[in-house]
Amino acid sequence: MAIRLGDVAPDFSADTTDGRIESFLKWKEGSWAVLFSHPRDFTPVCTTELGAVAKLKPEFDKRNTKVIGVSVDPLDSHHKWAGDITDVTGAELNYPLIADPERKVAQLYDMIHPNASDTATVRSVFVIGPDNKLKLTLTYPASTGRNFLELLRVIDSLQLTSTHQVATPADWKQGEDIIIVPSVSDEEAQKRFPGFITKKPYLRVAPQPKAQ
Ligand code: BEZ
Repeated sequence: MAIRLGDVAPDFSADTTDGRIESFLKWKEGSWAVLFSHPRDFTPVCTTELGAVAKLKPEFDKRNTKVIGVSVDPLDSHHKWAGDITDVTGAELNYPLIADPERKVAQLYDMIHPNASDTATVRSVFVIGPDNKLKLTLTYPASTGRNFLELLRVIDSLQLTSTHQVATPADWKQGEDIIIVPSVSDEEAQKRFPGFITKKPYLRVAPQPKAQ
């Protein structure tokens, strides 16, 4: 069954390139997590994606976010592929890649979309909060590599909006003005976001509040 925003992320154990994980939820305890799937090992787009995430690992770390990939090939294949990823992208695989030959994780997270492919996973992304609830999903086809800077941007928004009564507008980036959510009264907004601007009664903007 599909998992939806707000659901508790299903737990699983798995072998990974960094060793066995007995409980995914225990592994990510207290952190945000990004779980992302790849159609297969030794495929061109996946190779570029895994290297791109490895290069951005320090940015995920800064955001208290653990990253973990999953591919439906066995562990020995992952280890061999890791060398290619370094050759092509110059980046070492510095986060775990789950070996899921029995497609347990793929099934649990509904990563196989039979009308796209019966056997390979689509490019799924799951962002899971420290409360283990699903905050965001993305689904890309095999032919389109993901934009991982966009993923960092989204995580910035998720983290900001989880601690303040704000939302972020189209194309928002860290440091730009935010939107005060409609449930906050003007009186309350004046206290929390002094000098906010009312563009429409339902659209009030203010500078981004400082991290808590
Ligand atoms: C790739 O990762 O390059 C890829 C995988 C499956 C189908 C098409 C492309």
